[in-house]
Formats: sequence, structure tokens, C-alpha cells
Amino acid sequence: MSNYHIKHLEEYYQVYRKSVREPENFWEEIAEEHFMWQRKWDKVLSWDFSKPEVSWFEGAKLNITENCIDRHLATRGNKTAILFEPNDPKEETEHITYSQLHERVNKFANVLKLKGIKKGDRVCIYLPMIPELAISVLACARIGAIHSVVFAGFSSTALSTRINDSDCKMVITSDGSYRGAKTIDLKGIVDDALKDCSCVQSVLVAKRIHSDIKMKADRDEWLQPLLDKASPVCKAEVMNAEDPLFILYTSGSTGMPKGMVHTTAGYMVHTAYTFKNVFQYRENDIYWCTADIGWITGHSYIVYGPLANGATTVMFEGVPSYPDFGRFWDIVQKHKVNQFYTAPTAIRALAKEGVGLVEKYDLSSLKVLGSVGEPINEEAWHWYNDNVGKKKSPIVDTWWQTETGGIMITPIPFVTPTKPTYATLPFIGIQPALMDEQGTELKGNQVEGRLCIKFPWPSMARTIWGNHQRYKDTYFSAFKNKYFTGDGALRDEVGYYRITGRVDDVIIVSGHNLGTAPIEDAINEHPAVAESAIVGFPHEVKGSALYGYITLKETGESRDQNNLRKEINQIITEHIGPIAKLDKIQFTGGLPKTRSGKIMRRILRKIACKETSNLGDTSTLLNPEVVKEIIDQSL
Ligand code: WTA
Repeated sequence: MSNYHIKHLEEYYQVYRKSVREPENFWEEIAEEHFMWQRKWDKVLSWDFSKPEVSWFEGAKLNITENCIDRHLATRGNKTAILFEPNDPKEETEHITYSQLHERVNKFANVLKLKGIKKGDRVCIYLPMIPELAISVLACARIGAIHSVVFAGFSSTALSTRINDSDCKMVITSDGSYRGAKTIDLKGIVDDALKDCSCVQSVLVAKRIHSDIKMKADRDEWLQPLLDKASPVCKAEVMNAEDPLFILYTSGSTGMPKGMVHTTAGYMVHTAYTFKNVFQYRENDIYWCTADIGWITGHSYIVYGPLANGATTVMFEGVPSYPDFGRFWDIVQKHKVNQFYTAPTAIRALAKEGVGLVEKYDLSSLKVLGSVGEPINEEAWHWYNDNVGKKKSPIVDTWWQTETGGIMITPIPFVTPTKPTYATLPFIGIQPALMDEQGTELKGNQVEGRLCIKFPWPSMARTIWGNHQRYKDTYFSAFKNKYFTGDGALRDEVGYYRITGRVDDVIIVSGHNLGTAPIEDAINEHPAVAESAIVGFPHEVKGSALYGYITLKETGESRDQNNLRKEINQIITEHIGPIAKLDKIQFTGGLPKTRSGKIMRRILRKIACKETSNLGDTSTLLNPEVVKEIIDQSL
């Protein structure tokens, strides 16, 4: 019997040791006993980080939707698979059972086929958090189409970049979306984006806000009439273990967003296994992850991981502040949520509103609290622990990435003693390493360095869509034979990990990864801007916020600075989305540069963080005099 469900600390250590000593035997047992295969693998793992090439369960054949849906029908057909909680609390909750999910996914899959979508085709999904989002993801997987979900808060430019990069044949969207008291014209954004996308042949439109939108003849079609006519039977496409399941874009420190490619079997095994253990999910529990399916957390821990375990997964359309800041707790009470998984930025925003709104609701159903997306600060950790968990629900601070596909470093609740701000121990099968800048692994405890992973795990991304070289350069070149995460971490005296934050030019704002380069590129398009540099600075709710240092062309110097600030944030909104807007904009006469012309962001970061007492040696700069000017005028 494999140790699918870890129940105490000794067992964790024992299973962990096995997973490191005999990774292939270990993962083979998990895969064999807990999933449905149409054909078993010939080889569990082959890998070479120098290329890099990794494949898990080679030779196996399966369809992930049979694992997430069909195999539960006999025993859980009437169990709720997806519990949809709408934006407006007055609108009724929708319970989609496993049988209904099966029918809806099959119908949707048949509509995709009718529109000419075939195995391997890319389909872009740009939808709000409504059931059609999860269903369309699964429908793609049913027929072997590769889904590329784009978070519905991205702008039309960001959307078209992603559609073109992966050459999507179809876009699935809705007439609009609700966001608290606001509505958003999603279809209008898609129409704008598609002006630049010749690859898209068809657009399917779900009705959500019943707004009056324009439908382009020969391209756009309402989804519902097609679903009404579709057959509820759609045989699952037989997929190879290493066939791509989806592409999901994540920001890099430079250039284009990276289309991370995840494949089928390993991703399924890892997300299912972590879900079961990290949330200690038990039959009949109600599990809720507040993320959006537009991010990896939603892919792995709203859709695939929970459904592969036959769980009930809550999908929430709205925002934590609507109709008031008690909404999350209202939902926990209403559905008797047992596992609640959210981001530190949400916790901080809710903490700011005081405990009154938490105390109003009965949260006694909660058993496990999760955190993901950025380091959780001590204050937020305690607030969450004291007021939401009432000190009886362990907090699982889960560290992982879009690239890792599933959770990597995390406590197992009721198994691993927690420690505020620590993600604690590597999950089963995960072999982290801390490296110094010279590339030597730091052994032993009480060390701090760059976080790498030295052995493959099943759900790792296999490549960047269309750019394997970039995949190699970004993740496998900094440290020989290791995957480099881009994060720094320390290991304490008992071997617990604490993630200290990004060590590259990615800034995490409200849990969203933002690369500085694309934002700077957007700003530099403003006709009055000569040059710009973005850094992060601490923000009490967002974790980090963006600080922009901008130099103006001569023509811009006489302009009204407040207007310029607005225009600059408008350009950023158009190019990337409102999440990338700058909190502070400082116009300056120059930016500190090295003699080779590189902007010294380290100095700008310190100024933004008000740590000007120790700027290090600035005398070697090309223009040391600007540093004083920037400090004097800093915001
Ligand atoms: C950060 C989200 C500290 C980290 C699943 C990582 C965290 C990046 C944690 C990936 C955590 C995520 N503690 N930092 N528990 N979880 N991060 O791709 O910097 O959106 O590299 O994946 O978020 O963000 P992504």
C-alpha cells in the first residue's frame, strides 16, 4: 500500500526518505493505486536537467477528465463537485454534482469539436469565475485541446499577446463579468484584442451579465444554444502522459510573459496527492480556494487537484469586499467550509477592517487554513490564526510557483508543527537546495541562499511554449543541474524553510507576479517619458507595491505632473492591466547607472524602502550626483 494519506510526523519523515531514496518506486506506487490509466507506463522517470528534459510515466495513456469526473460517477454521482457562489449574495448558489459536471463537460467538449477544435489545438479561455470557466477547462482536456486561461483582469493588449504567442484557434469568453458592484465589458476587451490576432477563428460567448454586445458574424457565437443541441456523450481522448494539458502565462523579469507548459500525467498525480495531504481532505468536506482559475492556484487547487480526489470545490465569483468585508466569512458559514485557502494580501485587507466582521459569523466548520502567493508576514499570520482559525486550525503556508505546478514546501496540517512565516518542510518527493552566489550548495541548517530544486518532481513545467531555450536559460542555467526558483530562502535550526522573497526583478503585488521590464516598456511608450525604472516597496495590504522613477524628455518637463502620473498609469492599465499600476511615481532628472549604463535598481529599491542610511558605495556610478537628488525628492 502506498502512503497516499500522511497522518503523523514520523510517517512524513519515513515517506519523505523513501521518496528521496527511491523516487521512482515511490511515485509509481502512488500513481498505480490512486488513478485511472488506460495504459500503464513503461518508465516512471527520465530526466536530464542539462537539456533540460523531464518525462514522467512515459508510455502511459490516460485522460485527466476520466480521473477528475468519470471514475467518481459510480460512488459520488450525486455529490457536489462544484459549488458555485455568485458575486451577488442574493443570487442562488449552484450545486453541480459529479453527474451534472460529466454531462456539462461532455456537451461542451462536443461543442468544441463541432467548432473544429482538435487534439493539440490551443484554446484561450478568458472568463470570469463562473462554472463555464471550470467546465471549459475540463472540456478542452476531454478532447486533448490545450487550454490557455488568461486571467479576466488582463487588458486587451495583454490578452492578444498571449493569444498570439500560443497561436490560439478559439477564444471562450462571456458578455461581461461582475466584480462587486461593477460590471466589466469582457467581450469588448476580447474584440479589441482580436484586432491583432489572425489565428483566432471562432469566439464562444457565455451569457452572464445579459448586456447588449456586438457579435461579429462568422466568428462569434452564443454558447448556450450550441450546448443545448450538443450530445451529452463525448468519449475522452486518449492522451500520452507527456501530452501538454495546458499553457499558463507567468511574468518574467524581462520581455514577453512566459507560457509555461504543463503536461498530463505527472501534473495530475502531483496536484492530486498534494491536495489530499496539504488540506487533509476527507470525504464530505467542503473545500474553498479563493483564487481565480486564471492563476495556477486555481488550475491546480480549484479544478484538477480537488476533482481528482472527488472533492467538493467552491468557486466564488465575487470579491472579498462585496457587499462588505464580511463576505468570505459569510460564505464559510453558509457552506460550512472546512478548508479555506487564500492569499496574504486578502488576509491583510480583511484584517484592516477589524475583527467585528469575522466575529459576526460562525466559522466553527473550519479545520485547515491555507496561504499562498507571497510570504505571509507575522502580523497577518497571527491575525489569521487567532481570529479566523481560533488557534485550532493549522495554517498551511504553501510555497510553490506557476512553474512547479503544485505545492512544494508546506506543512501538512496536524502533522507538521507550524511556525509563523515558515513554509516549513519540503513536501514528499521534493528536494530543495540552498545555494550561495558562487553556486555552492549550502549544507546543514541555519543557512540562507537561493532556493533551487535538485531533483525532478511530477508536476514541473516541461518547457516554455515555443521557446525551450528561454526555459533553459531562466531556470536551469544559474546553477548547474538544478532548477532555480528565483526565490531566496533560509533554513532554520530544525530544517524549516522560510521564503524570503524574489531575488530577481519580479515583484509580487497583491499576490500577482509582475515583471518590471514589461511595465517599464509600457511607460516608455508615453511620448513625454525618456526612461523609467520600477522597484517594489513594502505596502501594508498589497505586500509590495510599485514605485516608478521616471525621467522625462525635455518636451515633457513643462507638463502638469499629476496629469502625467494619471496618463502613465492609464498606459500601464491598457498594456498590462490595473494590477500593474504604480502607487508612487517620482519624476527625476536622471537614474543612477553603472559605467556600463545599467540602471542600479538596488539603490532605487533602497530609496523606495526608505533605507537610505546604507546605500553602499555609490562612487563608482556613472552619475553619483543623481542619488542625492533622488533621495531629496523621494516620495
Ligand atoms: C511567491 C503561486 C512565500 C514566490 C502559487 C514564488 C511565496 C511566487 C509563497 C510564485 C509562500 C508563492 N511564501 N512566497 N507561501 N507562495 N510565493 O507563479 O516568490 O503566481 O516564486 O505561483 O510567489 O507565484 P505564482
